[in-house]
Amino acid sequence: MSASSMTPAPLPCWQDVAALRGPAPARDEIARPWRLGTERVHWFSRSAHALARLVAWRAGSHQKPVLWLPDYFCNQSSQPARAAGARVRFYPVRSDLSIDWVACRDLVKTAPPDLFVFVHFFGRPLDAAPAADFCRDAGAILIEDAAHVAKPAGAVGTIGDFTFYSPHKVLAVPNGGLLLARTEAADTASFVDPASTDAPPVASWFTKRILQKIAPIALARLHVRLATQAFAEDPQGGAPSSMAALSSAAARLIQRSAARLSAIGIERRRNEQALRENLARHPGTPLFSADWDDAVPYRFAFRAESPDIAARLYHTWRQRGIPVETWPDMALEVLGAAEHHRDAIALRRTVLLLPVHAPVDPARLRLA
Ligand SMILES: Cc1ncc(COP(=O)(O)O)c(C=O)c1O
Repeated sequence: MSASSMTPAPLPCWQDVAALRGPAPARDEIARPWRLGTERVHWFSRSAHALARLVAWRAGSHQKPVLWLPDYFCNQSSQPARAAGARVRFYPVRSDLSIDWVACRDLVKTAPPDLFVFVHFFGRPLDAAPAADFCRDAGAILIEDAAHVAKPAGAVGTIGDFTFYSPHKVLAVPNGGLLLARTEAADTASFVDPASTDAPPVASWFTKRILQKIAPIALARLHVRLATQAFAEDPQGGAPSSMAALSSAAARLIQRSAARLSAIGIERRRNEQALRENLARHPGTPLFSADWDDAVPYRFAFRAESPDIAARLYHTWRQRGIPVETWPDMALEVLGAAEHHRDAIALRRTVLLLPVHAPVDPARLRLA
């Protein structure tokens, strides 16, 4: 096992690093692996900025648009949308990540959505058709959040008016959020790319990844141990960088590494399957069944039997240098209305996420 297997994010290969300089590829060209037809292509540094752009676009016709997000959602990712003027409402998901439509029909009476975000959690293609029906009735724009999805699979990207992907999460690239627009409305001139905004600098990403590539395994493990925060901690604040544009270096790296997406998918499925087998005797169950077909897991999501067990496994594994994670940092609105968001809060307290971009040493996963 290499040190790279112990990092939370995939690392670039040396040839990719050498390709950081060079001519910038056409934006439509790099979107090819994610585009299904004639969707309009809009690149950003991150998907959170794509969402903010949709809010700003919708604000043109609906002042301070109401944005519905699932209650199981990373608060940090909602910050650019909030800054763009969104009035955020959180709709409840159930413990199997399906949408609580009874609660939605209640919520629609007081705060009907202008924009509705449907999430394909952890890369699993989930059924967005009921959300499309709901949005049609409510007069809302449907956004498929495929930030955890490596590449189109199942019906991902075929239902929503918009779909966004976060190639920077799956590929070893410094930034990259892709918004694909299917609606006629989005073809109007009012929808503008963030070409005039800055792109984040890539030097620190580059330096960090190089250090991770050359660091001895022991150092990588020590870093995981030292970077561990308390299991129950949800850091508030911390908005993503305001630089919303895709950097040219990232564009080049995305184009190069996207060519390996199929191989990446096979490897991720294999690693996910190995984790599934290794954890079969642990007190808990995988969040999803094993049938991924051609979809690609973003993380192996393991639901521990109780919050105490989850916390114990989390700390044990991190002490052993495995970059297991909790998700998400929950919004204060969700935590403050716990009776409406019971399942999302329970998910946050019991689900552990293990990386699947590289194999995890089974010996380190054993129970204490
Ligand atoms: C479900 C989901 N949607 C959207 C985002 C935002 O993605 P990005 O990091 O590209 O801004 C995240 C980020 O973690 C996420 O988990």
